[in-house]
Amino acid sequence: MNVNKFINPWILQLKSIDWGKSVPQRGIRLNFGENPIAFEPALQAIRAEASNVNRYPEVDKSKEYHLLADYCGVKPDQVIMTNAGDDAIEMIARVFLGPGDMALAVIPSYPCYAAATEVVGASLVTMELGAQFQLDVSALIETAKRNKAKVIWIANPNNPTGNLLLDLAQIGQIARSVDAMLILDEAYFEFSEFSAVGLINNNPNLVIVRTFSKAYGLAGLSFGYLLGNQETIQCMRHLQDGPQIFSVNRLARAAARAVLENPNAAQAFVDSFKSAKRHMEMGLAQIPGIEVLPGVTSFSVLRLTTMTASQFKNKLAQQAIFIKDLSIYNGVKDNLIYMGIPALNDQQTVLREIKSILEGK
Ligand SMILES: Cc1ncc(COP(=O)(O)O)c(C=O)c1O
Repeated sequence: MNVNKFINPWILQLKSIDWGKSVPQRGIRLNFGENPIAFEPALQAIRAEASNVNRYPEVDKSKEYHLLADYCGVKPDQVIMTNAGDDAIEMIARVFLGPGDMALAVIPSYPCYAAATEVVGASLVTMELGAQFQLDVSALIETAKRNKAKVIWIANPNNPTGNLLLDLAQIGQIARSVDAMLILDEAYFEFSEFSAVGLINNNPNLVIVRTFSKAYGLAGLSFGYLLGNQETIQCMRHLQDGPQIFSVNRLARAAARAVLENPNAAQAFVDSFKSAKRHMEMGLAQIPGIEVLPGVTSFSVLRLTTMTASQFKNKLAQQAIFIKDLSIYNGVKDNLIYMGIPALNDQQTVLREIKSILEGK
């Protein structure tokens, strides 16, 4: 029997995202913007919680909701925890989109917006960022209206360009002007120190996505959350309380509590990551053939002036250093590189290899 006839037709049409799956676990992996280390109190909490993994996670999530609400400056009923940012994005798609609906995203941006939109049978319309990766707010509003978009996905700061696309005035303007949900993905909030959270009470169509994957070094564990108005969050909790009641696992929840219950240590941890980034970018800026673009995320965006991104990526891979060539994204030229931040004790090695590649040695 051909089971394809039972599969939702839009599922058959899904294209897979190129995540750089071929990157090995060895070497210096800089292709995902991960934190090279994890937050120690979170590791301790995971070890302590490990002996309980035979038990389902607590059904009562109020402890985490209160901690997250304090961290974000919102009320506990404006928060829902998720199985990291991608789960949050998919949950938004399930709540607001369905077959025949339109969503809007900019390009280049995070590929999961297209994927999450298409998984529920909706379609994505895209709008290109400008030459300096800036966003034309009037054009965005106009495109959303023209296409009757129900959801607008914006990563702020943006992945893969690293820059903030919108300020608070622009976010307010968009939220008020469109007849759509405005989803602001603040996966890099701890780096940008910029948030639209103060706007959610007056803009019921605003939802914020966050994650602990980047800042707190928990990418392998998956913990994230959504912030929004009470009605939206209640609806999402209802959705989660059905087939996804245990979606956020025990270890992730224990690790997240360890972050939230140790705010000073957590802040110091993020500060040291940021200082490692500054240190690395200072080293990169001294290498001829490389320009460091301004960015406020857990990765650097580099422009090469003497070589294509794919040549550079392949040469670095021969030295077991793995980065991302940004030309895999629509709308990106072939001279841009995405590079995570190496641990401090790897930085000299990475800088040395980059220098020798660019000097043609
Ligand atoms: C803009 C953006 N949103 C969300 C995510 C999802 O991350 P996670 O699912 O690990 O929370 C990422 C990861 O790179 C990202 O760059």
